[in-house]
Amino acid sequence: MSVSRRSFFRTVGAGSAVLSADFVIGRGHEAMAFERVEFQAPDDGGFLRIDSNENPRGPGKLTVEAIKASTTYRMGRGYAPDNVMELYNAIASHWSVERTNLITATGSGPILEAATRAYCSADKALVTAAPTFTTCEQTARRMGAPVKVVPVDKSLGLDVEAMTAAAQGAGLVFFCNPNNPTGTAHDAVTVEKFIRGLAQSSPDTKILMDEAYFDYAHGTAVKTAIPLAKELPSVIVARTYSKAHGMAGLRLGYAIAQPETLRAVGNAWGLGSINTLTAAAGAASIRDTAHMDEERAENARIRDFTLQAFRDMGFEGTDAHTNCVFIDIKRPAKDFREACAAEKVKVGRDFPPYEKSHTRITLGTMDEMKQAVAVFRRVLSASPSSRAAQ
Ligand SMILES: Cc1ncc(COP(=O)(O)O)c(C=O)c1O
Repeated sequence: MSVSRRSFFRTVGAGSAVLSADFVIGRGHEAMAFERVEFQAPDDGGFLRIDSNENPRGPGKLTVEAIKASTTYRMGRGYAPDNVMELYNAIASHWSVERTNLITATGSGPILEAATRAYCSADKALVTAAPTFTTCEQTARRMGAPVKVVPVDKSLGLDVEAMTAAAQGAGLVFFCNPNNPTGTAHDAVTVEKFIRGLAQSSPDTKILMDEAYFDYAHGTAVKTAIPLAKELPSVIVARTYSKAHGMAGLRLGYAIAQPETLRAVGNAWGLGSINTLTAAAGAASIRDTAHMDEERAENARIRDFTLQAFRDMGFEGTDAHTNCVFIDIKRPAKDFREACAAEKVKVGRDFPPYEKSHTRITLGTMDEMKQAVAVFRRVLSASPSSRAAQ
């Protein structure tokens, strides 16, 4: 049986909070082709947590070094951290946009909330999908704005035609590409046609392209909508450092759009202020494109293993462009979730309208997925009805 990440670190000993990269690379079960700083994993009550699309590897080595190098006087005198401008310059230069095309926030969640508040109202609807990430929907409902929910199509991708029809006269369309939880992604041709078509037929409707998982997208057909956000006042692209950059706990996200569009978003809701360590990490991480390539490759290796394991058990998942997989387990997600939790593996919540058939599983490390798959095999080999009757 393989060694779990947690038991591995327990074996190594609690004293080594940060292990040398060489040591980590040398370890048997998870040899990686790239350097990583490994932290001692927390003891999550013995649970394997693959339920919230977090990154089990954390930030890259250069990013951790940048954080350490910023642990200076700035932390004491840092109400206006002097390296936030460096973060802005790094992001703007990465995407070839002006600094005025960019706002940052403590995660992309506040940006989603702010865009909804800026552009939806009692007579300006939000158009969103089901299932998809729900911050915009929750915000619109809290505001009393109408919400038009468009179910994903048969392939579990966003239904672009139906969303276009629903969006006529709406305030904001939330378009998650790649989509959480289904993992599906739309290619550049489809996205551009959708955006330009809507800009013509409903010019006052804004489109929020959530590209939280974009760094995990595979193939050349899927492209960022950032050039369209530069060109058109109706497009906002939201990005997060919480996924492939491995910085969920550091809280950093940003939006790219035209300055006037961003002004409305920034005025609608508090976006938080970026602290000096997060700014240093954000600048270092976006520059470290080699690390991002490695992170994408590692995620793909673990995704392929996990999808194949389910296929071998007779269950299909979508072609995931994310750090999660969405699997047709042919039984209620709740039954599966509870049976896995009884074996100390936590998987995703219900995702209506697929809560009777599908589960979302976040990709942990390869070792974690090997352990999880052994549990999934036991749980899924019991017939759905026999479990339900228990
Ligand atoms: C699609 C999507 N957008 C945005 C977020 C928000 O992430 P954060 O606020 O950590 O940037 C998440 C988090 O899971 C997500 O899945």
